[in-house]
Amino acid sequence: MANQELEKTLEKMRADWDARARENARFYVNTEREAWTDEEFFESGRRTVAEEILTDMINICQEKDPKQMKVLEIGCGAGRVTSALAALFGEVHAVDVSGEMVARATAALKNWPNAHVYQNNGMDLSVVPGGAYDFAFSTIVFQHIPSRAVIESYVGDVGRLLRPGALFKFQVQGDATMETTPDDTWLGVPFSEQQAGEMAERCGFEMRYNHGAGGQYYWLWYFKR
Ligand SMILES: C[S@@+](CC[C@H](N)C(=O)[O-])C[C@H]1O[C@@H](n2cnc3c(N)ncnc32)[C@H](O)[C@@H]1O
Repeated sequence: MANQELEKTLEKMRADWDARARENARFYVNTEREAWTDEEFFESGRRTVAEEILTDMINICQEKDPKQMKVLEIGCGAGRVTSALAALFGEVHAVDVSGEMVARATAALKNWPNAHVYQNNGMDLSVVPGGAYDFAFSTIVFQHIPSRAVIESYVGDVGRLLRPGALFKFQVQGDATMETTPDDTWLGVPFSEQQAGEMAERCGFEMRYNHGAGGQYYWLWYFKR
């Protein structure tokens, strides 16, 4: 993607998500409800962790004690899942393109000193310190990113930060029948199984499993080579 076009997409993602956060952050994070109480909203994050992480600890922890693990989250929103990750893992580092979302996540995580939230540039993890992370996770974020180049930039940078063998478990949009346009920051680009497998190889990962091809919730298990 030409630099100017990429800059425009990044700026649009930031501005649109800031506007959504100001309007009703919790609704745009989880559209199941328009009005969420604190308890319901963070309970929905604990449910995500129960369904996507606690069921999959063999792949995620690889015999490590979760309390000794350093994990990454891309697109933390208002801290819904981040707080549940902080309860489970030793250290959590999370990014989001929207300063408005980051402000909400920071407030939500004030009692979790092991959770660190950063506003980033919308395409990489250069704001995140260190390396040798043990696990990376992202849910309902890439399904909103309208640029394949941006998603691949994230995957490459997760590869830079994970230790060899570690898992990046994430969800993309898998429905190729949906019409996507580069300036629509709600509907992300779709991935076929072949495209997902090829991206893994280009970025130094093995795509060991995938689930939900063709649907909105297409989950990928990328293991760092
Ligand atoms: C639907 S919310 C989900 C938030 C969180 N993952 C959760 O499940 O609670 C999508 C989030 O992705 C963020 N986001 C969108 N595009 C992004 C990008 N290019 N880089 C980082 N974050 C992005 C938005 O700001 C928003 O907070």
